Amino acid sequence: MSATITKAIFPVGGLGTRFLPATKSMPKEMLPIVDKPLIQYAVEEAAEAGITEFIFVTGRGKAAIEDHFDHSTEIEDILKQRGKENGLNAVRAMMKTPGSVAYIRQQEPAGLGHAIWCARHYINNEPVAVLLADDLIKPATGGNGCLKQMVEAWQDRGGNMVAAMEVPKQQTSSYGIITPGASFGTSDGTLTEVKGLVEKPEPADAPSRLAIVGRYILEPGVFDELEKMERGAGGEIQITDSLARRIGHVPFFSHQFTGTRFDCGSKLGFLQANISYALSRPDLAADLETWLKGVDL
Ligand code: G1P
Repeated sequence: MSATITKAIFPVGGLGTRFLPATKSMPKEMLPIVDKPLIQYAVEEAAEAGITEFIFVTGRGKAAIEDHFDHSTEIEDILKQRGKENGLNAVRAMMKTPGSVAYIRQQEPAGLGHAIWCARHYINNEPVAVLLADDLIKPATGGNGCLKQMVEAWQDRGGNMVAAMEVPKQQTSSYGIITPGASFGTSDGTLTEVKGLVEKPEPADAPSRLAIVGRYILEPGVFDELEKMERGAGGEIQITDSLARRIGHVPFFSHQFTGTRFDCGSKLGFLQANISYALSRPDLAADLETWLKGVDL
């Protein structure tokens, strides 16, 4: 099989209460890592993986995301007048082909599965990628992004796939946790057969420490399951539950990726991401390193 995936869903309706007051009037997905908002990292990762259609599931107060991916003639004119070529290229390079970005509102905070289901009319019986911008995955030096790694692994197998990583036992209640089957290495990670899935189990009930990270490849059957609107953990419609119900019907693997994942839904992860990305920037690394070494903490 050699299928391609051209569409990605970005659920961006969440309230971002963990980052208040910063997120009171600004979407959490617009928080910057150095000088680029989280959502742009996710969109760039998707584009690298071959995605050409971008579907955002938004909500109230998220208009800044729509503006971000639109032309700002005012900014472009000023940069042009001032001869700021680099800035001009940066804002122009992020523009997508007209008509390839869609926004749909979730209307109610009914869970990640519900958010993904809201995008169903944009998907025509085809596989689709889902990226959660909070989970920022920095590629290894010279390596591919996480979604590209997954698409390559998925092309020979089809079915469903999730990104995964091992987490400390006491953190299982923050993740979808996998019951693992057979594992084997690939050129850039480890594929593990998914035998079962449970959303946010207490450590004592967790089937393993292998946790879902916010990258998914979904086959159309998942949408049929979502359609049933069954509520799970936290009273929400969980993508984890619909994926679990597809086990045994289609292939299902988790991909332990190469790269570093930052949980930018947490303050610590967000700060770590900023430092890590800044230390990889030629224009900032030396000065930041000097400051970090000398800083009186
Ligand atoms: C969601 C999913 C969970 C997954 C996590 C990854 O949870 O429901 O299965 O492990 O993303 O970040 P959330 O963090 O939105 O509560």
